[in-house]
Amino acid sequence: MRALVTGGAGFIGSHLVDRLITDGHHVVVMDDLSTGHRDRIPDEVTLHVADVVNAGEVTDVVTAAAPEVIYHLAAQISVRYSVANPVADATTNILGTINLLTAATAVGARLILASTGGAMYGDGVALPTPEACLPATLAPYGISKYCAEQYLMLFNRLHAGRHVALRLGNVYGPRQDPHGEAGVVAIFCGHIARREAPTIYGDGKQTRDYIYVADVVDAFLAASDYAGDEAVFNIGTGQPTAVCDLLEVINTAAGTAIEPTFAPARAGEWRHGALDSTKAAAELHWASSTSLAAGISTTYQQLARDT
Ligand SMILES: NC(=O)c1ccc[n+]([C@@H]2O[C@H](COP(=O)([O-])OP(=O)(O)OC[C@H]3O[C@@H](n4cnc5c(N)ncnc54)[C@H](O)[C@@H]3O)[C@@H](O)[C@H]2O)c1
Repeated sequence: MRALVTGGAGFIGSHLVDRLITDGHHVVVMDDLSTGHRDRIPDEVTLHVADVVNAGEVTDVVTAAAPEVIYHLAAQISVRYSVANPVADATTNILGTINLLTAATAVGARLILASTGGAMYGDGVALPTPEACLPATLAPYGISKYCAEQYLMLFNRLHAGRHVALRLGNVYGPRQDPHGEAGVVAIFCGHIARREAPTIYGDGKQTRDYIYVADVVDAFLAASDYAGDEAVFNIGTGQPTAVCDLLEVINTAAGTAIEPTFAPARAGEWRHGALDSTKAAAELHWASSTSLAAGISTTYQQLARDT
């Protein structure tokens, strides 16, 4: 298969690229390196340093690569940045996706969008939350991803596309940086490795659905082959984990017992999150398989080495 990965120099994208190469696919990456790292790109992969907001650059890259599948991961990923800069967030996440969908349509490629489940649903919803729940996000980032999904489904209707959006939980694993939705894992691992007390914003009882990056890569691959009619899938474990409990799991991985300090909760954050991935199990034959303890242990070892 010929694959284009936007955001392939980033955290999740680079794991996806590695896996596609291992599986024998031809891979091209488009990334502006705003948060990604050039040295994550394997030698056999062509890297186009380009901005997804620039329609001309997107068309050139997609035309040259002629991909069968476009994995669209390039995005503004920070919830907090989106609260302070909603226009910049919308520009990258909505216009960038429209550019990729337009270019994908021209070459007949399927697009798989990295959307968010964590930032999508807001509070006061059933847990774990199914896709049918109407999004009531608390951050511009959730709105921009929801809007990108709506364009994706519009392109499916308008151009008979077979594009798919994956609403990812809070993804953690080796190579992650502190700015993503599961950034707390990287931040806590860094603090624990330095034997410093991490700060918990709020009471620490807020929950998230933490999912290991290799399981997310499996979901992207499962979506590439999907032959059914559904377009939006939650990709999570279904398990809500409180921030305090996450710290305990990291302490266990590190063999420490470091207590946190507490600070006031921050804007744009929701209280509880866990994703119902029943639809992904039925349609994509996908389910997460990495326990939090195992995933955190691997992640801590790598992040502690780099601290
Ligand atoms: N990490 C999570 O917990 C999580 C959860 C849900 C959804 N997602 C989504 O998954 C995707 C990947 O996230 P990540 O955590 O790997 O983030 P990341 O920042 O590590 O990766 C994003 C990549 O996109 C590139 N990029 C950013 N803006 C760009 C632009 N305008 N043009 C071209 N390239 C650009 C960056 O340089 C980076 O390499 C994003 O779409 C994000 O919204 C992530």
